[in-house]
Amino acid sequence: MASYTREQIEELKKADVKYFLHPSSSITDLEKNGPKIIVEGKGIYVTDVEGVTRIDVGAGLWLNNVGYGRAELGEVAKEQATKLNYFQAFGGYSHPSVIELAKKVAQMLPMDNPKVFFTSGGSESNDTAYKLARHYWWIKGQPKKINIISRNFAYHGVSCGALAATGLKANREGFEPLMPGFHHVEPPYCYKCPFGKKLECCNLECADAVEKKVLELGPETVAAFTGEPIMGTGGVFVPPAGYLKKIKAICDKYDMLYLDDEVICGFGRTGKWFAMDHEDFGVQPDIMMMAKGITSGYIPVGAVACSEKVFSALRERGGFYHGFTYSGHPVGCAVALKNLEIIEKENLVENAAKIGERLREGLRKLNLPAVGEVRGKGLINGIDLVKDAKTGEKFDPSAGFGVRVTEVAWEKGLVLRNLIGDISQIAPPLIITEQEVDLLVERLGASIQQAYEEFIAQGK
Ligand SMILES: Cc1ncc(COP(=O)(O)O)c(C=O)c1O
Repeated sequence: MASYTREQIEELKKADVKYFLHPSSSITDLEKNGPKIIVEGKGIYVTDVEGVTRIDVGAGLWLNNVGYGRAELGEVAKEQATKLNYFQAFGGYSHPSVIELAKKVAQMLPMDNPKVFFTSGGSESNDTAYKLARHYWWIKGQPKKINIISRNFAYHGVSCGALAATGLKANREGFEPLMPGFHHVEPPYCYKCPFGKKLECCNLECADAVEKKVLELGPETVAAFTGEPIMGTGGVFVPPAGYLKKIKAICDKYDMLYLDDEVICGFGRTGKWFAMDHEDFGVQPDIMMMAKGITSGYIPVGAVACSEKVFSALRERGGFYHGFTYSGHPVGCAVALKNLEIIEKENLVENAAKIGERLREGLRKLNLPAVGEVRGKGLINGIDLVKDAKTGEKFDPSAGFGVRVTEVAWEKGLVLRNLIGDISQIAPPLIITEQEVDLLVERLGASIQQAYEEFIAQGK
């Protein structure tokens, strides 16, 4: 491992603060504490510039499905870049790796005869999907169908379209007006149900909220519903059984498209290749958005698939006049193909399902006063951190309990991310073993308990 002298470390930190505008980071914290510089990764572990190795509990931003340090992914990138680093796919050009990847992905999807378009990430995939949905209705002679229904707490990215669909206030504040025509309803957050219901007496009011919104807007103006099957960044909300199917039925009733954002869920994270492969989700979307796990973050690639129904409209029109310079980038596609091969060969989807059970069971068994709810599917999981697990009472949001847990976790050998609302993101790489998950649970439990004791002692 490359080691850095104290001087080099200080130089790097100084230059970071002076020159680098970080994505979604606190400038105050950076100026006060400096950046945390990560220099290497292997398996589920990353090592910082000081030489300390920690478990990456969030797999980067929910994406590193095959784990760090896979030389074969670097090799395939080198090979493709040497042979053909780039050629556009505009104007009818193509190349073998994009053709192979489109075929591979299309054959995996729970969709009707899908066609696959490529992007560089999740926001581009979502923007592409909204344009596709509106374009579809425009081609079909219904240009008034432009509204898209999303949910509070949804996260679909930060470009102007994706942010319009995103339902997190903190991300939107100060950037409005965004792309018009997006409308939000309450999410399926069962632990703190926005409708005041308990699962035992729930009638899927959260799904009915979509229908109410359609009727309020007028079905003749609504193009689509868009949603993550399990809402990730908003707090890991696993919907109750029947919720997604009920929304699909609403889409069918009012002639709307169903847009399925599997940017986090896709490519194995939920314990199936796609979240919609789970029986209790089971919707066949018209359009699916993907990114992250398609390359495990080895290179930026995203994708959007459209069903036969949507594609046949594009064929009527004669083309889809939308594209990014890097749509179908040869190096990205070659890496994606190799990454999917690894996921398949090493049975990582099955591992995510099996290990996910052990992870949740381990966390629940800790029986800690600050662990309100542990929820998830496969290896997309969240812990709702609370002041009192018995009543579900939360700490004051301004006290920063979730952030304090991440700070203690860092000291105890974990890279942990706090989501809005004091919810910990627990989504390690899909290669994680039983022993590693037990170690993660042990360190996380100790971190939560220490932060909790501090907060109680401070009267927070
Ligand atoms: C569900 C979902 N959609 C879209 C995005 C946006 O992806 P990107 O950051 O690659 O633009 C994210 C990112 O976390 C996401 O979680």
